[in-house]
Amino acid sequence: MKVYRLDPVGTLDGLKLGEEAEPRPGSREITIRVRATSLNYRDLKVATGAYERTAIKARPIPLSDGAGEVVEVGPGVTRVKVGDRVAPIFTQRWLAGRSDPAYASSALGGPSDGMLAERVVLSEEGVVAIPAHLTFEEAATLPCAALTAWHALFARGKLTAGETVLTLGTGGVSLFAVQFARMAGARVIVTSGSEEKFARLKALGVIDIVNYRATPDWERLVLELTGGQGVDHVLELGGSGTFAKSLAALRMGGSVYMIGNLAESAQVNPQRILAKRANVHGIQVGSREMFEAMNRAIAQARLRPVIDRQFEFGQARAAYDYFASRAHFGKVVIRGA
Ligand SMILES: NC(=O)c1ccc[n+]([C@@H]2O[C@H](COP(=O)([O-])OP(=O)(O)OC[C@H]3O[C@@H](n4cnc5c(N)ncnc54)[C@H](OP(=O)(O)O)[C@@H]3O)[C@@H](O)[C@H]2O)c1
Repeated sequence: MKVYRLDPVGTLDGLKLGEEAEPRPGSREITIRVRATSLNYRDLKVATGAYERTAIKARPIPLSDGAGEVVEVGPGVTRVKVGDRVAPIFTQRWLAGRSDPAYASSALGGPSDGMLAERVVLSEEGVVAIPAHLTFEEAATLPCAALTAWHALFARGKLTAGETVLTLGTGGVSLFAVQFARMAGARVIVTSGSEEKFARLKALGVIDIVNYRATPDWERLVLELTGGQGVDHVLELGGSGTFAKSLAALRMGGSVYMIGNLAESAQVNPQRILAKRANVHGIQVGSREMFEAMNRAIAQARLRPVIDRQFEFGQARAAYDYFASRAHFGKVVIRGA
């Protein structure tokens, strides 16, 4: 079968396509024919050796996200059957409840082998059924970006109609936050550094857009848009470079979800957290239980993920390069082999 590996990790030139024997499922394992995968910012960091949160295995198969059909089951499998349409959970061992440091090495696409292969073998516990109305390409965008936004807004944030959500940029996590907020009847404010993407945001129903490049003190605009009150929830995707601004844009007693590091730079004064009586939540993707809850909501709302561009399996390097250019709006997908 065809499979990509990062050999070595450290540069995008390490991404190599090879041929390997088809993997066979062991006890309580399943084989998935991968029909599509998608890219996350983390995948760039893993490939270039910049991912520091968890140790990366030698010559990993990259990408945490994908979707496909079950083509073989090993002895003792009862949770899924051949023909089921499934997506993997990002942290294979995090099924429900709180996360645990012991689960970290089971994360796909670096700590463990990922999805950029013709077939993969996973534990029967490590997958969820995908919503019936979604294509494989659409479902392949869910495991990391969508679940992270869902975890923040619903599992942790208990978002309710009428609240205001602020999200940064127009990447994968951010656009799922936009769609989920609108689904829940919340108002959403989006920052973007790209005027060309404004029209696409408007087409998604976003009315309040703030250009963080043209207006470096964009937090003031967010406060103005909320009558000086601030927002109830912030998906903090920038990290140290934007955290102080996100706090400034927050309503008293609101919640900040620490998710990303797109804009690492400045110092953070923790006194500002006190000043805002803020709830600061560290968010790392989500559990299988959250993934299943999210899929029920996606199915009910018939929500369709925003896919910017699709690449063929043999063009994986072009997909990485395009993703790295940050020209994308939403998700970048690689079709199965
Ligand atoms: N903790 C977790 O579990 C978790 C899960 C998923 C993602 N993340 C993190 O969340 C972040 C977003 O991930 P993603 O996969 O959605 O990324 P992505 O698709 O690559 O999104 C990148 C977009 O963010 C915007 N952006 C870039 N630099 C920015 C800056 N300095 N300030 C504000 N916005 C900026 C740009 O949008 P515009 O062109 O519109 O400005 C860019 O297109 C990353 O840091 C990623 O590592 C964390």
